[in-house]
Amino acid sequence: MGAGIASNEVRWECVGSREELEQDGRVVGDARGWSVVVVQIDDEVHALENRCSHATAALDSGVLQGCELICPLHGARFDVRDGSCVGPPATRPVRSFPARLNGNDVEVELPEKPALTKPKFGVFN
Ligand code: FES
Repeated sequence: MGAGIASNEVRWECVGSREELEQDGRVVGDARGWSVVVVQIDDEVHALENRCSHATAALDSGVLQGCELICPLHGARFDVRDGSCVGPPATRPVRSFPARLNGNDVEVELPEKPALTKPKFGVFN
């Protein structure tokens, strides 16, 4: 690999606007191979991979209750501050990323998403 940014280096990426976050209560964006959902709680913004760890439903249409984002498909709950699973049927966390407001931009610090690997016997959880 020559000079330049290594593919595994994390960097801040804009995934939406502050207006969108304020208007919709969340921002959904794609960058570096990831789909992410960003929510704001008080003065802090939090980013999760937009993919439930149970059966891969998109989390962005889920209800936000306090710090918990509820999967719209089967109701698993995830703490948006760290992605931890706090309610079944999921048992694994979802990936979380650092997030910030930078002027009008909603930014998430992301690595390049690794290439897909073969699933282990089709087990999601
Ligand atoms: S896909 Fe999210 S709880 Fe089943």
